[in-house]
Amino acid sequence: MEFYDVVNTRRSVRNYKPDEIPEDILGRVLEAARAAPSGSNRQPWKYILVKNPEMRKKVATLSGGQPWIAEAPIVIVACGSDIKYDRGGYMGEMSFLLDSAIGLTHLILAARAEGLGTCWIGLFDNESIKDLLEIPPGWNVTAVTPLGYPKEPKWTQPGKRKAISEIVAVDEWS
Ligand SMILES: Cc1cc2nc3c(=O)[nH]c(=O)nc-3n(C[C@H](O)[C@H](O)[C@H](O)COP(=O)(O)O)c2cc1C
Repeated sequence: MEFYDVVNTRRSVRNYKPDEIPEDILGRVLEAARAAPSGSNRQPWKYILVKNPEMRKKVATLSGGQPWIAEAPIVIVACGSDIKYDRGGYMGEMSFLLDSAIGLTHLILAARAEGLGTCWIGLFDNESIKDLLEIPPGWNVTAVTPLGYPKEPKWTQPGKRKAISEIVAVDEWS
């Protein structure tokens, strides 16, 4: 699929078929996440693929009680590890959030290219999911996303976005 078609037709998908994801397709999606850039190439990320149906429901409950998340055959819990030195200027130890977001963005776009839906979930209970999935100290949940085939593909409807003139300035803020 052409890159700009991927970018321009990706939508947050909030309903999923139960269909399994073939291993070769899942492998390509995960490879895309692996290829992402990170500060100093530290790759401070780990993706937990929650496949067990009961565990998926628990993660959905701990993610703002959004039950449709568990419809997908895989719920991905993206984790980032603390960075103990001031690598990112003023961002300091928060840098892992950036790296993690880049990795998951790669994954989400690759999923779209494969005809798979995702929905970035920012509403989750970090400590409870850490307990549930036995995520070790020094790591935190940075995002959750279902991964699966959409029930109703919404690929063609562009989302509402600010105008380029509103988000781009040249030489100085305007
Ligand atoms: C950091 C972040 C957190 C989000 N959290 C949620 C969420 O908890 N639940 C949800 O349904 N959508 C969530 N979304 C999806 C956004 O609502 C969605 O990306 C936005 O409305 C644009 O729509 P689109 O993704 O279809 O283009 C989140 C997106 C981002 C990037």
